[in-house]
Amino acid sequence: MPYLAWSDELDTKIPELDAQHRVMIDHVNAVHDAAASGEAGTLQSAMQHLIDCVRRHFVFEEKVLEAIDFAGTREHQGVHENILKQLQEYQDRMASASPAEAEELADALGPWVVEHIRHDDLDFGPTVREWLRDAAPPDDPFRKLVGDS
Ligand SMILES: [Fe+2]
Ligand SMILES: [Fe+2]
Repeated sequence: MPYLAWSDELDTKIPELDAQHRVMIDHVNAVHDAAASGEAGTLQSAMQHLIDCVRRHFVFEEKVLEAIDFAGTREHQGVHENILKQLQEYQDRMASASPAEAEELADALGPWVVEHIRHDDLDFGPTVREWLRDAAPPDDPFRKLVGDS
């Protein structure tokens, strides 16, 4: 059993975003496993992969929010910035933590990464779907980008 599992509660029903969220969860699980291994180098590299993945995802997601003119775009960007800052802080703290402390840190970061999807990302799902249904021309390249099905 992975540490964090995908659930329907995290489903934005926007295929490309959901695919990226699943990859993020895989990376959180890899951080958890790396912390359990007690190898500091493995943990640092797993954290770096998570941070890189989250950063790429946030850039993509913000592009989507701007494309649909989502009212909460600015606020959402602020939340993303804060998450990246916190992940960086976790990585720094892990670098000087004991194996037991590193495990505690790894356990603590998973839930709030998932909470962001559950609470904040689900807010804009309906607006993106509405935009795809009503506003986007059938050949709009943005459709491909978000994985309109
Ligand atoms: Fe997201
Ligand atoms: Fe987000």
